[in-house]
Amino acid sequence: MSLDLALFGTKGSPGATTLAEALVAFASRRGPALLAELDPDGGDRAASPGLALDPGLASLAASSRHQAITAEDVTGHLQPLPAGGYVLVAPASAEQAHAALDTVVARLAPALTAMQGWTVVGDCGRMRSRSPAVELASHAEVVALVTRPTLEGVEHARDRLILLRDVAPRVGVIVVGHKGFSRARVQGAVGVPVYGVVADDARGAELVRSGHGASWAGRRTALMRSVALLADSLGASLPVGVTV
Ligand SMILES: Nc1ncnc2c1ncn2[C@@H]1O[C@H](COP(=O)(O)OP(=O)(O)OP(=O)(O)O)[C@@H](O)[C@H]1O
Ligand SMILES: [Mg+2]
Repeated sequence: MSLDLALFGTKGSPGATTLAEALVAFASRRGPALLAELDPDGGDRAASPGLALDPGLASLAASSRHQAITAEDVTGHLQPLPAGGYVLVAPASAEQAHAALDTVVARLAPALTAMQGWTVVGDCGRMRSRSPAVELASHAEVVALVTRPTLEGVEHARDRLILLRDVAPRVGVIVVGHKGFSRARVQGAVGVPVYGVVADDARGAELVRSGHGASWAGRRTALMRSVALLADSLGASLPVGVTV
């Protein structure tokens, strides 16, 4: 195991990054939790108030260029998230993020595996065949493709799952919002399990993105309530010892 959960997005920005952050905010109330920015199109968090580019994926890649990466190396390059939990920040620049990921990808999986007791959620960006995040995701307990339940969303998910469905033993879909097909119809169309439905909740998403997902107000949003249900169902489908 390296990642507990690797999240990929589809075309149209369905909310994969927000969901990854929300899951880490939720999990951080139970134990150490890490949001690993593994999106080769660039990370989102380095530009957030209170966070910076360094330390992060780029400094980890630079300092470990020719050596094995240990769990301690990873924890030495994390930044605390305002809502709880930690983030391994990726550069916002796509070129820099891609280069940093390419440098560490083969060595990061064993390091994440060694992070005993942590909940690790990877934000892998949009699913593409040549994405370096796919190799990392192949070590994840669960891989989930995030999509909207619209005709376009389901079609894109089906297309991406052609590439993703054999990447890991457990691959499924997480749906954002109820506007469109039912959960059962999405599952029938994509042919993999739907792990859960996350609320379409712009205010909740904004609270998560501004670092308040785990606050009193954040926890009461439809988004965070649905994320708690999703975390329970993911926890039930994961092996013993995984704390999501
Ligand atoms: N559950 C949600 N309900 C409503 N709005 C949401 C939800 N999740 C995210 N959003 C909003 O949708 C936009 C895109 O979100 P986000 O960056 O998480 O998507 P993404 O799938 O990671 O996109 P990208 O393909 O750019 O990586 C943001 O404005 C965010 O606030
Ligand atoms: Mg994203």
